[in-house]
Amino acid sequence: MNRIETMLVDSPPRAWLQRSYELPLLERLGARIAGLRVVEIGCGRGAGAELLLQRWGAAHVTAVDLDPVMVQRARRRLARFGSRVDVRVGDACALPVADAAVDAVVDFAVVHHVPVWREAVAEAVRVLRPGGQLVFEEVTRHALQRWSYRTFLEHPKVDRFSAEEFVEALGELGLSLPVPAVTRFFGDFVLGVAVKPAAASPGPL
Ligand SMILES: C[S@@+](CC[C@H](N)C(=O)[O-])C[C@H]1O[C@@H](n2cnc3c(N)ncnc32)[C@H](O)[C@@H]1O
Repeated sequence: MNRIETMLVDSPPRAWLQRSYELPLLERLGARIAGLRVVEIGCGRGAGAELLLQRWGAAHVTAVDLDPVMVQRARRRLARFGSRVDVRVGDACALPVADAAVDAVVDFAVVHHVPVWREAVAEAVRVLRPGGQLVFEEVTRHALQRWSYRTFLEHPKVDRFSAEEFVEALGELGLSLPVPAVTRFFGDFVLGVAVKPAAASPGPL
């Protein structure tokens, strides 16, 4: 992220939007993480992880960000949660988590920053247990093509996704969306909750 986006992400309006708009909408779309083990990819300054722990009652959050400066900020913000949180420098495409080890992966506006974004989504699916949720709020190609985004922010320029392409990629990885994803602001954002298929139950003996 460049300095402008870092300022925006660190700002009170962003915190307000996440707390007062995105979380309630994601709840309506089916996000349920109380008492569960969660990975947050691209945690930034830790405001999202704070909400996951405090407001949604996650049992444990592993918060990962590529940027060591963001990780330092997140560690300071989240220190009071003690052993309920583990903040690490790491890549959404190579999470420091075993296969099927967590109940939910949360993506607050991160995957659109990843050049090989399908790898980040596949990695989220790898660490999810069967029946686990991928909770996402993403920024689409429609937004990234706007003058304001192109002029002031820095993102990968090729192979960005529309809302439909993002949802289609989830389907290709075997995820389903019990409640359809929604778009906001003329298709600039897509939000939803995708579920990894539960393990097949053993047939009758
Ligand atoms: C737009 S900010 C969102 C921050 C925070 N999730 C929020 O909603 O306020 C994107 C974040 O993703 C991080 N990021 C970008 N690519 C990443 C990657 N491959 N793995 C982990 N984090 C990444 C950036 O360092 C930045 O903190």
